[in-house]
Amino acid sequence: MSDDRPIVVAITGASGAPYALRLLDTLVEARRAVQLIVSSHGWRLMQAECAIGSIRQLRERLGEAEFDASIEVCDDLDRGAAPASGSARNAGMVICPCSMGTLSAISVGASRSLIERAADVALKERRPLLLVPRETPLSAIHLENMLRVTRAGAVVLPASPGFYLRPSRVEDLVDFVVARILDHLGVEHTLVRRWSGEDGAGAAGA
Ligand SMILES: Cc1cc2nc3c(=O)[nH]c(=O)nc-3n(C[C@H](O)[C@H](O)[C@H](O)COP(=O)(O)O)c2cc1C
Repeated sequence: MSDDRPIVVAITGASGAPYALRLLDTLVEARRAVQLIVSSHGWRLMQAECAIGSIRQLRERLGEAEFDASIEVCDDLDRGAAPASGSARNAGMVICPCSMGTLSAISVGASRSLIERAADVALKERRPLLLVPRETPLSAIHLENMLRVTRAGAVVLPASPGFYLRPSRVEDLVDFVVARILDHLGVEHTLVRRWSGEDGAGAAGA
């Protein structure tokens, strides 16, 4: 069954912009409506890691017609945009990548940006909230914040690709993580081969 509710996609300033780009690419290809929010450091990392520093460049990379058909851009400074209200319908939110700063703000309900507020709304409305952090090593503060948001209903899905499908390219590692995100969002995809158990023991459930 098709779902016309938008998925809120936020990009923050953790390393991992290629995951965000691939996620958007896949959602656009699947013709899913997306409400996109990028923090200022999200743009900084998009520029550093994907050479994309503006909406215009992102639109060119994803395809102008495809972008226009799927993506509505929301300003992270505008806490009055649609994702800031629980009465606006959406199918949930993913923050990919999610910085430890944004994760910390969500863990205390700070809501000082549209990204933080939209995440707070997802939690209060009991909608899916996926956080894709990338940091290493992790401090006790990071771990406690991850536990707090998990207890509040979020799914913490670290950007940690597995190797049991024998990746040969960076793109395979990116697809591994994006496939898990799409699984949690309930979006059909064929990004990776699914583990069926015949390749050996030990990886099922990863
Ligand atoms: C090049 C670069 C790489 C960074 N990598 C990470 C990272 O992997 N994880 C993280 O939590 N923060 C990382 N940061 C720090 C965040 O960008 C910073 O805490 C920022 O304030 C996050 O703001 P935001 O969550 O509003 O995007 C990085 C910053 C820079 C400039």
